[in-house]
Amino acid sequence: MAKKNFTGEVYYPSDDVISKAHIKDWNELSKKASEDFLGFWEERAKELYWFDQWEKVLDDSEKPFYKWFIGGKTNISYNCLDVHVKTEKRNKLALIWEGENGDFEAMSYYRLHKETCKFANILKSMGVVRGDRVTIYMGRIPEIVIAMLACARIGAIHSVVYGGFSVEALHERIEDSQSKLLIVADGAYQRGKIVPLKEIADEALQRAGGIEHVIVVKRTGQEINMEFGRDMWYHELRSLPIANQDCALEVMDAEDPLFILYTSGTTGKPKAILHTHGGYQVGTYTTLKYVFDLHDEDRYWCAADPGWITGHSYIVYGPLLNGTTSFMYEGAPNFPYPNRWWQMIENYGINILYTAPTAIRGLMRFGDAWVKRHDLSSLRLLGSVGEPINPEAWKWYFSVVGNEKCPIMDTWWQTETGMFMITPMPCVPLKPGSGTRPFPGIEIDILDDEGNSVKTNEEGYLVIKTPWPSMIRTVYGDPERFVKQYWSKYPGIYMTGDSARRDEDGYIWVIGRVDDVIKVSGYRLGTAEIESALVSHNSVAEAAAIGIPDDVKGNVIYTYVILRAGVDPSDELKEELRQHVAHEVGPIAKPASIKFVDKLPKTRSGKIMRRVLKAEELGVDPGNLSTLEE
Ligand code: WTA
Repeated sequence: MAKKNFTGEVYYPSDDVISKAHIKDWNELSKKASEDFLGFWEERAKELYWFDQWEKVLDDSEKPFYKWFIGGKTNISYNCLDVHVKTEKRNKLALIWEGENGDFEAMSYYRLHKETCKFANILKSMGVVRGDRVTIYMGRIPEIVIAMLACARIGAIHSVVYGGFSVEALHERIEDSQSKLLIVADGAYQRGKIVPLKEIADEALQRAGGIEHVIVVKRTGQEINMEFGRDMWYHELRSLPIANQDCALEVMDAEDPLFILYTSGTTGKPKAILHTHGGYQVGTYTTLKYVFDLHDEDRYWCAADPGWITGHSYIVYGPLLNGTTSFMYEGAPNFPYPNRWWQMIENYGINILYTAPTAIRGLMRFGDAWVKRHDLSSLRLLGSVGEPINPEAWKWYFSVVGNEKCPIMDTWWQTETGMFMITPMPCVPLKPGSGTRPFPGIEIDILDDEGNSVKTNEEGYLVIKTPWPSMIRTVYGDPERFVKQYWSKYPGIYMTGDSARRDEDGYIWVIGRVDDVIKVSGYRLGTAEIESALVSHNSVAEAAAIGIPDDVKGNVIYTYVILRAGVDPSDELKEELRQHVAHEVGPIAKPASIKFVDKLPKTRSGKIMRRVLKAEELGVDPGNLSTLEE
């Protein structure tokens, strides 16, 4: 890429970085892909194994229900494991894992394959068949990866619930997905304490019906309740003859569901985003290979949680499809000391680190000395995801962590997109805070309310104009919501829910959500979830939640509560309500502030005007108030 003429603060890649990269000329690749995006994706798909070739790359006859690789037969688990086991990669490490308490595990492709088959056989013996939903609720331990791959192998649809969610969040997701089996760990280590996952699951199961069996993975070892006939220990099942190391795999249609993953949307309950075996693997495989420029000798660490899309696409599927060695760490970044991450990078010789701005800001707070104590020279590339990265954090990450030699891949994408959509590659000049340009083959635009492209540097709605292989197929169980939420503001165009602007170099700067989604420490939460948790407390009549900018977490949650008649406001009640939200939704949803109020600003039709609350909190102009009731 020509080193010239970019405006603003620009970091150009070194010749060394470019010479080693798979993609040396972004412009050339992008041009080729935009001239023939179907051809581009078809070429990529051919790098993976298919039991039967597709007849057609894209079927858009029922827009927006796009279908990819029609007629293709595959199974993502085959491409993640079996393919490698047949080559010299069989003894390569697939996964290196460190527990927060110092426990350690390393698994070759060969072993991960066997473990997956064993788990798959256990699932089969419990009556799980193709198309069944299985909920998985665990911390960051190797068994979560095995469980996901085992589901994929037998064609069951996994629904992973983040281990930081709590009772009601888990209940809702089990019920909505109509799962018949739950895989849970007894607990998870977090900051030296045990998160009692099984206990939380027991409470959720009291609220939800449908679960026939619970497989319990022993991690923390404390005493837990095991319900006779329902709950079974994984380590016991694993030693039974049924847990055979060979398990025939289901041949899946490219469009067969692989997983659902719940995420927060504009209104109401979290929705189940559906991804498939065929297109999803093509998207995650390609984007990870090109953007994090994977080479055979790399040790790659995505520090996200498997319970979110980043973990699905870039801890589990993307790296395994590429035959990479991944590192996974169970616990908190600053436990027992703020050098934990840097120490592990040094110990394991990590080459690529992919994390979120909130983690970077959190670690930056402890000062440079914690980083400088360690030799981080193995690092070659860095990555960021989840929210816009502020230039200050970007520069710290670049200079202190990356020693000014590691380009930062700021990847913009969503649960719905399944893969990176706006992202640099190592050969692309970087501007701190911008994800640069769309991935080759993706057409992005920024529109005003009428659907016209906005002018350079003007803010508008971020939209996607071309279909892509790992795109959301539907909202599971609610196709109308899928159409309404994503495809109705501008018919035929995918609405991301974000606002953005594009600068004179065509670089995209994502500004933030334009809906009622709040990003707290990079985690996606909906105002509705927090509000309904508050209202489920018997002293609350009505509640509103908003996001307020925060230096470390990106946003924190502020809430406004109308108490029921006769309930007295007090600080104790505030604390009780905060704990209640943590118990129902999860600790990440705990409000930073609760204010007792008599009234909430509403439109005449009764909708809470959250932007008015936000403007008041921030002391800014609330804008147009013509719809305000009073
Ligand atoms: C935000 C996470 C700016 C954005 C992969 C998006 C980002 C939402 C970035 C999706 C980034 C994600 N820069 N904003 N690099 N990455 N976002 O579904 O608002 O948990 O719509 O997927 O995160 O969140 P989700």
